[in-house]
Amino acid sequence: MSKSVPSSITKTAPRHARKLAKHDKVLRVIVIGLGVQSQKDHIPAILRRKDLEIVALVDNNDRVLSECNEVIGTKSFQKVRDAVRDTRPDLAIVSVPHDQYFEILEILASNRIATLKEKPFAVTYAEASEIISLYKIHDTYLQVCVQRRFSRLYETTKKLLESIGNVHSVSVEYSLNLNAHDMASGWRANRLVSGGGAALDMGYHSIDLLTYVFGAPDKVYAQLSYNSLGGDYSIDDTMKAMMTYADGKINANVTVTKISNRKSESIRIYGSEGSVLVDGRTVCLYDKDSNEVESHSFNSKQHEVDEQLDQFIDACMQDKGLDTKDQNFIDQLSNMRTIDAIYKSHASGKVMNLR
Ligand SMILES: NC(=O)c1ccc[n+]([C@@H]2O[C@H](COP(=O)([O-])OP(=O)(O)OC[C@H]3O[C@@H](n4cnc5c(N)ncnc54)[C@H](O)[C@@H]3O)[C@@H](O)[C@H]2O)c1
Repeated sequence: MSKSVPSSITKTAPRHARKLAKHDKVLRVIVIGLGVQSQKDHIPAILRRKDLEIVALVDNNDRVLSECNEVIGTKSFQKVRDAVRDTRPDLAIVSVPHDQYFEILEILASNRIATLKEKPFAVTYAEASEIISLYKIHDTYLQVCVQRRFSRLYETTKKLLESIGNVHSVSVEYSLNLNAHDMASGWRANRLVSGGGAALDMGYHSIDLLTYVFGAPDKVYAQLSYNSLGGDYSIDDTMKAMMTYADGKINANVTVTKISNRKSESIRIYGSEGSVLVDGRTVCLYDKDSNEVESHSFNSKQHEVDEQLDQFIDACMQDKGLDTKDQNFIDQLSNMRTIDAIYKSHASGKVMNLR
């Protein structure tokens, strides 16, 4: 459960800030789940726009609900169904524990409310397929939050890859420094609620970036560590995976861990003519003699959250339904297939062939 700090909302979205708007129409949005992610990213991004009005806040924790509403000042509800019936929103932004999504999405889809849902797409590939059916039947738009795709950092990374010839090797490391007490607290600790830890919850972003740049993997071999710290948690705290992309021409190793001694995020990509290294918020291009050619730092994450919301609003304004041919959407489904393969590979000790 999040510690409610609604001052974070006011800090990042001052009431008198210049607001963004591409459209004259004002869309009615409900925000479902008012924890860390909504307070840090979604609500401030909504408040930065003129073309959105928050018509309802929904959270099943009364304290969080009333603290947020002191800042926003709108209708509040503990149940999504009541909020939808009472306020008839155009859009919904949903950030809840992973086992809570399906029931909420059923209500939103059946009321034709365009939905921006937090990652992961689902807890399994099978659940993702059911979610697609829901939105398809009701011809309603659905977008999954993967804001790194909208960042200048990864846009630049993708561009720099054009300078390094044929990519042959990729190495990804993503770590948090949580202790046994941290690992045991909140809904993420319980595998039945979160659906998975290092691979599903934390690894989703790393896997999505690989899909974004290289497409779907051909093969996956993975090993997971469960409960390494011996605390009261049942999720995988560390994931190590080896994958191949581009018909085996690119090999990638991915380490995602919640229990390192430091927080870090790095990607190294090696090609026949040079390499590209992303370390934190900086990306560098090296030539084949390892001389640095260029380096770019992007410190603000606000841009990526705004761009993600902008794409969602554009789709809603065009009254788009679910487009299963959209590459971004295909990629999200591919992420779920990859994550399923990671858990299956660990359980069976086998290489999973995704072709
Ligand atoms: N894109 C990112 O970088 C990023 C970062 C962190 C979390 N997330 C995702 O955001 C989602 C939420 O994570 P969080 O860290 O904000 O969690 P959190 O625990 O801080 O917040 C979840 C909120 O949902 C509420 N809630 C639970 N069940 C509900 C229900 N049925 N109806 C309404 N409200 C309900 C809880 O009371 C809580 O306030 C997850 O899907 C997570 O994977 C994404």
